[in-house]
Amino acid sequence: MAISIWRWRLLFALLLSTVLFYALIFLFEGFHQESTRLAIRWSARFAAVFFCAAFGASTFQHFGKGGFTYWLRMNRKYFGIAYAITHFFHLSFLVLLQNNFHPVFNLAKTTSLMAGGMAYFFAGTMLLTSFDAFSRHLSPSQWKWLHTIGGWWIWGIFVKSYAKNALNYPGYMVLFLLLALTALLKAIRYVQLWKYQVLLGK
Ligand code: HEM
Repeated sequence: MAISIWRWRLLFALLLSTVLFYALIFLFEGFHQESTRLAIRWSARFAAVFFCAAFGASTFQHFGKGGFTYWLRMNRKYFGIAYAITHFFHLSFLVLLQNNFHPVFNLAKTTSLMAGGMAYFFAGTMLLTSFDAFSRHLSPSQWKWLHTIGGWWIWGIFVKSYAKNALNYPGYMVLFLLLALTALLKAIRYVQLWKYQVLLGK
C-alpha cells in the first residue's frame, strides 16, 4: 500500500485533524463538563492509537513485511511525537475540567496520580529524547532503556483503563485488542532476540 504522507507532514496532519476534532466537540456540544469529558476520552483514544503505531512499528514490520508496515516503521518517531503531544492534550483537558467543573485531581487516588504522573514523566522525556539535541546526552543503551521502560509503563496504564471499559462496552474491544496485539508481538520478538543472543554465546 503506497502512502504518500511522511514525517513532519504526517505529524502535522495527525495533530491538525485531532485538534479540529476537539474544536468540533466544543463547537457543537458547547463548553461544559460533559463536552470536556468527551475531549478527555477522545484524546486518550487518539493517544492510544498513535502510541501503538510508534511502540509496535518495528515489530509489526518484522512480522508483516509490506508497504504499510515499512511506512509505519519509517514514521515511528513522528507517531511517537504525535502520541506525546496528544497525551498532553489529555492533561490540558483534565486541567480544564479541574478548573471549571469538577476537582478531578483532588478526587483521584494518590496511586493513580503517581502512576499517571510517571507516565507523563516518561512521555515528556521520550518526546525530548526523540531529538538529537537531547538524545546526544544519553548513551544508546540508556536511550533504549528509557524508551523500553517508559513504553511498557504507558502501555500498562492504557491496558488498565481499557480492559475495564472493554468488558462493559464492546466498542472499546478494538483498542484493547490493538494494545494486546502490540504487546504479544513485542514479547515474541524479545524471545526471538534473546534466543539469537544465546546462540551467539553473548
Ligand atoms: C494524573 C494523570 C491523569 C488523570 C488525573 C487522568 C484522568 C482521567 C479521567 C478523569 C478520565 C475519564 C474521563 C471521563 O470519562 O469523564 C480519563 C480517561 C482515560 N485516561 Fe486519563 N488521566 C491521567 C493520565 C492518563 C495516562 C497517563 C493515560 C495513559 C497512559 C491515561 C489514559 C486514559 C484512558 C485510556 C482513558 C479512557 C478514555 C475512554 O474512556 O475512552 N490517562 N483519564
